[in-house]
Amino acid sequence: GTGKFFVGGNWKCNGTTESIKKLVDELNSVMLEEGVEVVVSPPYLYISQVLGSLSNRIEVAAQNSWVGKGGAFTGEISAEQLADAGVKWVIQGHSERRHVIGETDAMIGKKSAYALSQGLGVIACVGEKLEDREANRTTDVVFEQLQAYADAVGSDWSNIVVAYEPVWAIGTGKVASPQQAQEVHAAIRQWLKEKVSDDVSSKTRIIYGGSVNGANSAELATQEDIDGFLVGGASLKGAEFGVICNAV
Ligand code: G3H
Repeated sequence: GTGKFFVGGNWKCNGTTESIKKLVDELNSVMLEEGVEVVVSPPYLYISQVLGSLSNRIEVAAQNSWVGKGGAFTGEISAEQLADAGVKWVIQGHSERRHVIGETDAMIGKKSAYALSQGLGVIACVGEKLEDREANRTTDVVFEQLQAYADAVGSDWSNIVVAYEPVWAIGTGKVASPQQAQEVHAAIRQWLKEKVSDDVSSKTRIIYGGSVNGANSAELATQEDIDGFLVGGASLKGAEFGVICNAV
């Protein structure tokens, strides 16, 4: 693997004050391996609660941010507000934002560039749909999404973690096999080498997401180009998330 193993827990639009209190208590009691960087991503509304109660061994990510500086943008949260609140990371381009909410590659690129400019790290998601994979278009789609990030952010990827999340594996229980994941991760690393730089290719962490759980994480983690995970459902269970983090 490359760099420090990175595991993100994306809580999506789940939780209540009470359930999040319980989850934070569970996370605080997990013994994390030294070699893993861990980030959790609560819904905006609960970020302050989590920052005020979670061990500082774990950092906090937002699930989204506005494309630019705050102002008259009803319902949005800006990257500078996230940074001000103590958030260190933001997820961009998640498949649910692309395919349910309708965000475009260009918008995702712009959001990522602005978040980086405000000092946030970006978890930059990419991934093909089942129909793309079946049409042998997996890398076409993933490279197009990567190109949109590169167009917007340029050549400094030091605060970017790439998350490969095949859409067909998200929330379906159908995890990519270690070989399927490794194949795309290696292709992403090669793309970074050719289109960005050798340095970015060798230093950028590429994490896998899509039905990762406590039972499949260890084998996935053995793959050469898998540098961590982005976990949805299983991140809502503190002990199981701890097992995934410690797959480092
Ligand atoms: O961001 C996380 C991914 O969407 C994976 O979700 O682990 O529930 O399949 P999942």
